[in-house]
Amino acid sequence: MGERIQSIRGMHDILPEQTSAWHFLEGKARQVVSAYGYQEIRLPIVEKTELFARSIGEVTDIVEKEMYTFADRNGDLLTLRPEGTAGCVRAGIEHGFLHNQQKRLWYIGPMFRHERPQKGRYRQFHQLGVEAYGMSGPDIDAEIILLSGRLWRALGLRNVQLEINSLGSSETRQNYRKLLTRYLSHHLDSLDSDSRRRLETNPLRILDSKNAQTQEILKDAPSLLDALDQPSRAHFDALCKLLDDNGISYRINPRLVRGLDYYSQTVFEWVTDELGAQGTVCAGGRYDGLISQLGGRKTPACGFAMGLERLLSLLETQQLLPPEQTPDIYCLSLGDAARASAMYLMEEVRTAMPGLRITLHCGEGNIKAQLKRADKLGAELAVILGEDELHDGTVVLKPLHDDQPQQSVPQTQLVTKLLTLFKQENRRP
Ligand code: HAM
Repeated sequence: MGERIQSIRGMHDILPEQTSAWHFLEGKARQVVSAYGYQEIRLPIVEKTELFARSIGEVTDIVEKEMYTFADRNGDLLTLRPEGTAGCVRAGIEHGFLHNQQKRLWYIGPMFRHERPQKGRYRQFHQLGVEAYGMSGPDIDAEIILLSGRLWRALGLRNVQLEINSLGSSETRQNYRKLLTRYLSHHLDSLDSDSRRRLETNPLRILDSKNAQTQEILKDAPSLLDALDQPSRAHFDALCKLLDDNGISYRINPRLVRGLDYYSQTVFEWVTDELGAQGTVCAGGRYDGLISQLGGRKTPACGFAMGLERLLSLLETQQLLPPEQTPDIYCLSLGDAARASAMYLMEEVRTAMPGLRITLHCGEGNIKAQLKRADKLGAELAVILGEDELHDGTVVLKPLHDDQPQQSVPQTQLVTKLLTLFKQENRRP
């Protein structure tokens, strides 16, 4: 016997009993993005490695150690996308839909990062993201935040808090970088080794450090918000006002910096304390410099992406997932002739009532075994076609969820009967 092959660590199958939860989440998200006029874009999963290196940043965790990169048969260096923003900008420049236009886009799909797997952190995970191009004001920043907030409400989620910050313009960050580096170099000996390394390469990321001692030192560090230039400050204040006006509560977190280098001005994260260490369910911000950095003409942009596994986990914790879908009808039959007739009849029913979920019993089994299968699947109604029924031109309808008696119905009236039965229960789509 051959050895069994396992799935790759951190990459999970989404099993049939889990897909209805995914459909629920994706369905609500589709409704919300379309309510704001966003259009779906579908992008390749593989891109040139250079795209991610130039956009996410050479000295980020993602590019330094988490990308799935390989040489293809032509020797080109390719990478499984670790996120969706870079590909979206690449497509926008390539197809010319960014310049002098306003675009509101969204996407959904798998992303790949070679991180250490744990609850809420996987090597293949799924994001739903939105990206808005051609709008430079705080109104669009507010809109994408309102959009995400609306999705939490549509899902019934509680306890998801918004944190916002501004990274200002690139001048702001350059100035602040100097201030922070000067401050931290006085505390060099007390910094953790990761932060010490970052002091050289990417000091702003130290603000994000989880190390307790480093956090203690950061308490007295100069604040990024104090370093904002006037236009950046005005943008941020206007965003806060729009959020206030729309009843969105938020916490200003001056240490929120994000792990990707392309951000400027607004950054935000939605976080929960119900998921342990991986509590960020959605994150994003403005990235006005990225399009020109990737060879396009300067275009303002902002967006976010949410982690679908984390949202599903939160929905499960808060018991907000709808019950699994079960068949409306399980159709039983005995003998080849009855089976053929049952199949034909169910085809008719499916044509007349396309919303019904019908499972036809296939293969062996006496009526008892077939009923057991119907029960196990949680079917609502058994439609039975035995030898007698075949002979009489009838079927037996047997409710499986309540004590209603079974009844015999002429096959010619089956559709009409089912229409009333399922209409009464409001089950017809
Ligand atoms: P990000 O913060 O790297 O941003 O990822 C966004 C979200 O994806 C995270 O908040 C988290 O919910 C989820 N996520 C990230 N890594 C993992 C993982 N290993 N396992 C499970 N979930 C994960 C971006 O990707 C940006 N492209 C967002 C954006 C769009 N900014 C502007 N537009």
